[in-house]
Amino acid sequence: MTLAVYPGSFDPFTLGHRDILLRSLKIFDEIIIAVGVNQNKKTLFTPQERVKMIENEVNDIDLAKKNKVKVECFEGLIVDLARKYDAISLIKGVRGPVDYDYEAQMAGMNTVMCPDLETIFLMSKPEFSFIHSSLVKQISLMGGDVTGFVSESIKNNLKSKS
Ligand code: PNS
Repeated sequence: MTLAVYPGSFDPFTLGHRDILLRSLKIFDEIIIAVGVNQNKKTLFTPQERVKMIENEVNDIDLAKKNKVKVECFEGLIVDLARKYDAISLIKGVRGPVDYDYEAQMAGMNTVMCPDLETIFLMSKPEFSFIHSSLVKQISLMGGDVTGFVSESIKNNLKSKS
């Protein structure tokens, strides 16, 4: 069985994240969505809220796929979580060169710490390549419509915070 970890802040989970998840499920048997908890980073949603919101998203995908996905929060090094699950890969979505520069640094350092763990980069589809969680939050908090960036359910979660 091949298991991969898909880490991120997911504050909130966007349609771009959803697409990366669905494409990852074509490659791996099981995916752990790892919601990063960073005490120094201010987030709109608590880790528990983010886990719940992603679980709802996963429930919306077809039954065969949803049983292959687990969502949990993690604190500390992602390589430690990957080792705990015996994951063979980390999944990273890359929207463009800015993401790539940052992700390449992390992939390099994670490889040194955990040589058997492969970071797989999936390029965002063009229609999702401009979606950033931070901009989605900004638009929603300023009363804008975030349809097309997040699901209806997450749109409502965002509204409840404004
Ligand atoms: O959504 P983000 O901000 O790209 O998510 C970043 C995250 C949580 C995936 C990243 O910061 C991470 O892996 N944090 C865990 C801490 C860690 O392992 N740091 C060393 C990376 S070289």
